[in-house]
Amino acid sequence: MCAVDAEAATDADGTYHLDRSLGGGSGLARFLMPYKFGLDEIMTKVNILSQELTLTHDYNPIEHVKSRLKSADSILEKTQRIGCGTTAADIRANITDLAGIRIVCSFTTDVYEVGEMLTSQADVELLRTRDYIAAPKSNGYRSLHLLVEVPVFLSDRVEAVCVELQLRTVAMDFWASLEHKAVYKYRGQVPASVSDELQQAAEITRSLDSRIESLRSDILRRH
Ligand code: GTP
Ligand code: MG
Repeated sequence: MCAVDAEAATDADGTYHLDRSLGGGSGLARFLMPYKFGLDEIMTKVNILSQELTLTHDYNPIEHVKSRLKSADSILEKTQRIGCGTTAADIRANITDLAGIRIVCSFTTDVYEVGEMLTSQADVELLRTRDYIAAPKSNGYRSLHLLVEVPVFLSDRVEAVCVELQLRTVAMDFWASLEHKAVYKYRGQVPASVSDELQQAAEITRSLDSRIESLRSDILRRH
């Protein structure tokens, strides 16, 4: 995959074309293809766990799952934000969330258990853990982020593909989607009153998660 220089990928009006930067034609689609297969590999694993646990334990810890490939706009925005180049090699080396999967679980213990079930598989390599549940972000954000690598078998080679997993509870997900809407609405400049409210809401979701978790242990103990 040969990359042309940044100037050749920029129109007279200054519009930047990632497709052209990645080799022309549908350069972006070709570049992202292994990442799409990486998503497919992990989604298969998640579906297997989900079905197996439902059949054998009559309990599915996974509420819902979403996967996404990073869009051209957000790849370009991130290269500018982190100050890296836009060749295929630059993007591959610097942007680790080209393929992303969000797994929403019922309980906090499920988040860690599902994370462990996935990363302990022989063909999944855990590259990085960011535990924002144990150490929430200053705005109150909580989730378990795992960066993993999976092999994708193509016709002539095997590519190791990075996939970013975000695991969280329903309550964490509810809060994160609200906070995301606030950041979007205020274009990143969330007023102090709103971010205070969000922090308080984050505290409520944290305490809700822990109450729900202990309620669950009580219920299980009585069975
Ligand atoms: P990005 O460049 O945004 O991907 O961040 P990063 O590379 O520093 O990684 P980090 O682990 O902080 O965040 C990765 C992803 O987690 C983000 O793209 C969001 O999807 C999610 N995330 C992280 N922090 C927040 C937050 O404060 N609020 C919400 N709603 N989502 C967040
Ligand atoms: Mg991201």
